[in-house]
Amino acid sequence: MRATPEPDRACALCPRLASFRADNRAAWPDWHNAPVPSFGRADARLLIVGLAPGLKGANRTGRPFTGDYAGDLLYQTLLDFGLAEGSYAARADDGLALKDARITNAVRCVPPENKPTGGEIAACRPFLAALLDDMPRLQAIIALGRIAHDTTIAALGARPAWHPFAHGSAHAVGRVTVFDSYHCSRYNTNTGRLTPQMFRAVFAAVRAHLDRADAAVA
Ligand code: URA
Repeated sequence: MRATPEPDRACALCPRLASFRADNRAAWPDWHNAPVPSFGRADARLLIVGLAPGLKGANRTGRPFTGDYAGDLLYQTLLDFGLAEGSYAARADDGLALKDARITNAVRCVPPENKPTGGEIAACRPFLAALLDDMPRLQAIIALGRIAHDTTIAALGARPAWHPFAHGSAHAVGRVTVFDSYHCSRYNTNTGRLTPQMFRAVFAAVRAHLDRADAAVA
């Protein structure tokens, strides 16, 4: 059966994640504690693919990257490049709106220790593939980290071995270009593996790509 773009709240494909979800519901009944749906409209030209919701961030608020450390840099960068409007206040009801962009995660449920298994990444991939199919104007994808990159390439029907992840690289796969960035995680930014300037350079390349496409149809 073809997957839908968003898993059911009670999705049971990954027993470990379903059991972690049940524990979290018992511990924090007011939190979202369910697969975190994608944020943004299906007619966007840009899709950003993260890893998985953070326990006390997206898993709590119900919006990707919202309330997670990584969200501070991601949402500020989206605002700076005209891909979001309003202001980001780390809450799902902060009124922030994405412009021509959508955000999702490789794995929709929070994994223990922030580490999904290979089986969980594969089990969630049909939802990503369905989401890609559901975006008729899609032109660019930003993959945050190697896991997001590999599962995105596979969801597009290509082989990750032919498109190895490298920060700052761009891969043409069918109708879309996949832009790679190191994940904007606390670890990567604190260690200097990813600086805000490096992250902005990826967004500048994506912005130029979308603007070139605009110019071509003008
Ligand atoms: N929050 C998300 O929603 N995704 C990530 O990859 C990290 C934090």
